[in-house]
Amino acid sequence: MRPNPVCVSKVALLVDDDSVESHAVLAEVKRDLASLLVSDVENCSFVLAIQDGHLELRAASGTRNAIHVDFVTPMMGQKLSGPSRKEPMARAIAFERVGRSVIDATAGLGGDAFRMATWGCEVTAIERNPVVAAMLADGVRRAMAVPQLADVLDERFRLVTDDAVAFLRTLADGDRPDVVYLDPMFAEATGKSAAVRKEMTLLRALLADDPTDERALLAAARDVAMDRVVVKRMRHAAALAEPVDVAYRGSVVRYDVYFCHQNNVGE
Ligand SMILES: C[S@@+](CC[C@H](N)C(=O)[O-])C[C@H]1O[C@@H](n2cnc3c(N)ncnc32)[C@H](O)[C@@H]1O
Repeated sequence: MRPNPVCVSKVALLVDDDSVESHAVLAEVKRDLASLLVSDVENCSFVLAIQDGHLELRAASGTRNAIHVDFVTPMMGQKLSGPSRKEPMARAIAFERVGRSVIDATAGLGGDAFRMATWGCEVTAIERNPVVAAMLADGVRRAMAVPQLADVLDERFRLVTDDAVAFLRTLADGDRPDVVYLDPMFAEATGKSAAVRKEMTLLRALLADDPTDERALLAAARDVAMDRVVVKRMRHAAALAEPVDVAYRGSVVRYDVYFCHQNNVGE
């Protein structure tokens, strides 16, 4: 991993259960987040708690909001299947060409990256914030215990903790993906449940000192994608750059597509 330029508020680590799994999570978190961890809760802005075998983020200020990554519950009782033909995100990444490789350069808690992997894409998920990356890694670890999801994650999902601009800029020619997917900021989750809005507020607070350089990301993405860059925006937000080649609208968000066919010249 390259030195990480990201600035993250200090985090206290609490262990609320004594299971074998929790000890394994604890060892991993201590290793990956050593430079961020403080021992006194008074001096921290956030708390990472290990509870019920998962890693969760809480505000230190005593609110009860907590976030953890759960890929398993939404899939319970469901068969893995592709998206509907009308699904705007699937249309934007041109999902019908199954097996296409995607770099999700702003992985966050991995919801979009995981969906793309379940659809059949080979996904490299890049997240530079070490706390967010630790939560995502924890969600992947728990999902690996479910055989159906283990197959998907094993074959088609790779998590990289790194700055995506640096990662894309040093990508070998043979590793260039068909699609680079960008979802730069946790937007206001208007219309969602109060619980989801509180989660978003907590994540925005965690990332507040760490603004996303959207233009640098887009430029790096456009230089390496073999087929297209897809940028997720709020439905009525301005595009990151004009002209957009094609846009797919959902009820809340929009996917702007920038074709990169010029990158295929001579392939
Ligand atoms: C809105 S979230 C992505 C949400 C994600 N699509 C999901 O489904 O959970 C944006 C994430 O991008 C990360 N990010 C921003 N700039 C980045 C960069 N240059 N390299 C890697 N990650 C970055 C932020 O830390 C944040 O976690």
